[in-house]
Amino acid sequence: MPKKYYIETYGCQMNVADSEVVASILSDAGYSPSVSIDDADIILVNTCSIRENAEQRVWGRLDLFRAQKKKRPQVIVGVLGCMAERLKEKLLESGKMVDIVAGPDAYRDLPMLVETAAAGNPAVNVLLSREETYADISPVRLGSNGVSAFISIMRGCNNMCAYCVVPYVRGAERSRDPESIIREAKEAFDMGFREVTLLGQNVNSYAWNGAVPEDEVTPAGLLKKISDQDSGHRFSNLVNGLTAPDRYPLTGKQEPVNFAGLLEMVASVHPELRVRYSTSHPKDLSDDVLEVMAGHNNICRHIHLPVQSGSSSVLKRMNRKYTREWYLGRVAAINRILPGCTLSTDIIAGFCGETEEEHQETLSLMREAGFDFAYMFKYSERPGTKASRKMKDDVPDEVKTRRLNEIIALQNEISAVSKKADTGQTFEVLVEGPAKKPAGAMTGRTSGNKVVVFRASEVQPGDYVNVTVTRSTSATLIGNLMT
Ligand code: 5AD
Ligand code: SF4
Repeated sequence: MPKKYYIETYGCQMNVADSEVVASILSDAGYSPSVSIDDADIILVNTCSIRENAEQRVWGRLDLFRAQKKKRPQVIVGVLGCMAERLKEKLLESGKMVDIVAGPDAYRDLPMLVETAAAGNPAVNVLLSREETYADISPVRLGSNGVSAFISIMRGCNNMCAYCVVPYVRGAERSRDPESIIREAKEAFDMGFREVTLLGQNVNSYAWNGAVPEDEVTPAGLLKKISDQDSGHRFSNLVNGLTAPDRYPLTGKQEPVNFAGLLEMVASVHPELRVRYSTSHPKDLSDDVLEVMAGHNNICRHIHLPVQSGSSSVLKRMNRKYTREWYLGRVAAINRILPGCTLSTDIIAGFCGETEEEHQETLSLMREAGFDFAYMFKYSERPGTKASRKMKDDVPDEVKTRRLNEIIALQNEISAVSKKADTGQTFEVLVEGPAKKPAGAMTGRTSGNKVVVFRASEVQPGDYVNVTVTRSTSATLIGNLMT
């Protein structure tokens, strides 16, 4: 039987978190991780479908795994995640040499899929679930720096942006119970982590309905046991007799919990545990969330708020459900409630029908919002999305490239201004580890998510230090440690 697995991860932070869930499931089933492909019996690649080039990269990796399989035919190759969901059985076609295809909601099935593949049979599970949140699984923190950990708080997406493949590959939105989230945050802190990032496709629509979490009902899990024996009456008569703290030992909550409530609970785990979250949808980012941030210094002063376009007509075609004015209104609220909070965004250049004027509106919004950082992309048509079915991908590639380059050039200017303004200021920095260069320097992040490099001899990853910024490069602040 195969024993060692190697896992490679592409795509977003959610995928990184998912790979940690996969590692946990495989470890529980008796498999052990391998850091190299060469001595792995199972090679897994957790994939992304967001843009055509994300998939191209994975196809390139699969070529390499195929070469491994030629050398060692018993090796099992598995494709996990979004591409597995999108391409399904196509990946198992002969010649591709893929043995396992597992979608994002099928990871509990992996030990079985491995056995099936080891017996020489094709192994596929791409069922999407309405409930799966992997709530009870403690992730194995693969390749982590030991300082920051990801905590997935919800899965799937209901937003149906016209360009986006996510709802098709990750299914409907569902929120994870707050008990298990708080437990994971506490465990992370106890293990020495000093930062958690709460993850979801749209964290602002987090909504726990207040139902009794199955695994955490009593400290001993008594109720779960009983309910397993008597699933017809799922704990109904037992729950009524318990007080709230028994039913919800960590959060004490028995009413519905929204994102503002969850954020408050996670921030209360420990004042030295920094809390970040990603990603926010501008239509759902409420003042309540901003107020909770203002009330807790350990909730980082950074919001990733993807705008996609600065033109209301493009936003309408994208089905983003907000206008340019609404977005700028949210930015104004952030600046009012959280002065100094940094802002980052995602921008798509050349969406269907984008005119030159609409593109100019994106540039002008970028100036008005003053983003500290941006991820910028050329529009890439994805099969099955509303845009691919109903709209024409009619902006010529060279125009998309030119617009993207203008967006990148402007963002570089804006980022440089924002970094210059940091010179002379002192920031609290959470130390992450040694910097790549210069030798002996350390690196960490500010609350606003800016990377800082500084010389220090006696600081450890996980320490909080104060650093005064002396200068900056395009991506980094450079400073001196304050004593
Ligand atoms: N083409 C280009 N960029 C896309 N994104 C999502 N779908 C597409 C697409 N079809 C970008 C969006 C999103 C980020 C994760 O990827 O900006 O916020
Ligand atoms: Fe890629 Fe989206 Fe899947 Fe993340 S959720 S891996 S960004 S397709």
